[in-house]
Amino acid sequence: MTAAEPATDGSRAAGAPPVAIVVFGASGDLTQRKILPALAHLVERSMLPRAFSVVGVARTPWNDEDFQRVAIQSVPDAGPQWREAVSRFRYVAGEYGHPDTFESLRQVLEGADQEHGTAGNRLFYLATLPAMFGVLADALGKHGMASAATSGRFTRLVVEKPFGRDLESATALDKDLHRSFDESQIYRIDHYMGKETVQNVLALRFANAVFEPVWNRRYVDHVQITVAESIGVEHRGGFYETAGALRDIVQNHVMAVLSLTMMEPPTRVDAEGIRDEKVKLLRAVEILDLDQVATHAVRGQYVAGSVDGARVAGYREEDDVDPASRIETFVAMRLHVDNWRWAGVPVYVRTGKRLPVRATEVALQFRPVPHLPFSGRLARALGPNTLIVRIQPDEGICLRFGAKVPGQEFRIQDVAMDFSYGATFPEPPHDAYERLLLDAVHGDPTLFIRTDEVDQAWRIVSPILDAWEAGEAPLSRYPAGTWGPEEAVHLIGRDGRQWIDPAP
Ligand code: BG6
Repeated sequence: MTAAEPATDGSRAAGAPPVAIVVFGASGDLTQRKILPALAHLVERSMLPRAFSVVGVARTPWNDEDFQRVAIQSVPDAGPQWREAVSRFRYVAGEYGHPDTFESLRQVLEGADQEHGTAGNRLFYLATLPAMFGVLADALGKHGMASAATSGRFTRLVVEKPFGRDLESATALDKDLHRSFDESQIYRIDHYMGKETVQNVLALRFANAVFEPVWNRRYVDHVQITVAESIGVEHRGGFYETAGALRDIVQNHVMAVLSLTMMEPPTRVDAEGIRDEKVKLLRAVEILDLDQVATHAVRGQYVAGSVDGARVAGYREEDDVDPASRIETFVAMRLHVDNWRWAGVPVYVRTGKRLPVRATEVALQFRPVPHLPFSGRLARALGPNTLIVRIQPDEGICLRFGAKVPGQEFRIQDVAMDFSYGATFPEPPHDAYERLLLDAVHGDPTLFIRTDEVDQAWRIVSPILDAWEAGEAPLSRYPAGTWGPEEAVHLIGRDGRQWIDPAP
């Protein structure tokens, strides 16, 4: 263990500090698809200082020029500033557990400090296979590269998901990381937290007087969270076979959205203020007994079907997938938050691959008025009041309510008041990785996942994982391009409710 880093005030006024970003897994897909493009956009927007460099580390036998070429090719739309920055990038080829790799890395980093003024500040980014996270953290510790805040310098560790594959392995991973790094140095990424519209849930709730008073069990009938994807598992069949939708989406992204949507107002909007409330909310989520799983959760797997008019293969036909696989590509579940604000308000969660659209939405459906003074016939087209937060795509907020239809009768019909991010703020939203990388450079952990959040999220999904792994629930099949298996409709239908499908 090392001494804790000094707290930062999150101020961006002075610009980002000098830093060398070391990317482990530099020749991999994530680096090329997400990390390098995010860095390029930050450079082009002058959000990173000139005293900044990237050192790629991986087993692939590249040299500096190979890595620099890939950094340019990964960002085809980047301009001269990125090319100039890339000329400072270095590459270290080597085995992750081997002392030579770390000796070379040390020399390259010392060179960067001298040549580019990176001032001994380090951001180590673990973008490797998860099995390497502990090995790398240990090696950094062993080679004296993990110590926090010595003479004003910082050393931080950014860790990609997945954080373990169950509570036990997540705890073991944390133990591995904490052998060399203090919790204040560890930045666990859940890229959903970097999305503007996920952060906007906080603005909507806590910067406005009108929403918070009705944001509770007195007025809200139930909450729905939908994370729908129209893509299949693409080239990630091998990974997905070890994960499934519950681990891949629910344990992290859904829990992030759920906690921000339902947590109490923080006393301070800072890293601990927000994360304390998120954890408190997750602790209030009812943990299912094994025998409740069958009535509270549904799993499904897509078979061949059609999405956007194109025929697509079933999950079991995808590359690197076992033809008899029992991995779920769809989850629907009902959760309860047992606290003063939400007791008795069910939260229905639905996520899946190969659904009809790509859409992430949170919907709060409100209770009906105590007495409707219009005859049933005239109010037939009136649905429940609903507030929908569209996290992606077409980011925005929509409030559905009843209005009088023009005419002689007092007929009421559903109408919508719609706020669209794109129409109000023409600049396209920044990629989540840009925001998160910059926050890590600035030392602001607010949007990163703290160890106790990871733990609690695993506790919530664990009984479901256990029951499913014990084969205690059927795996229903659904045709690609549909909203999942029939059982999901029954799950919510039994409670007299129905899913709110995102618009196509
Ligand atoms: C990742 C999952 O965390 O999130 C992927 O591993 C999924 O399976 C992706 O496709 C979805 O992210 P987004 O930002 O497209 O909603």
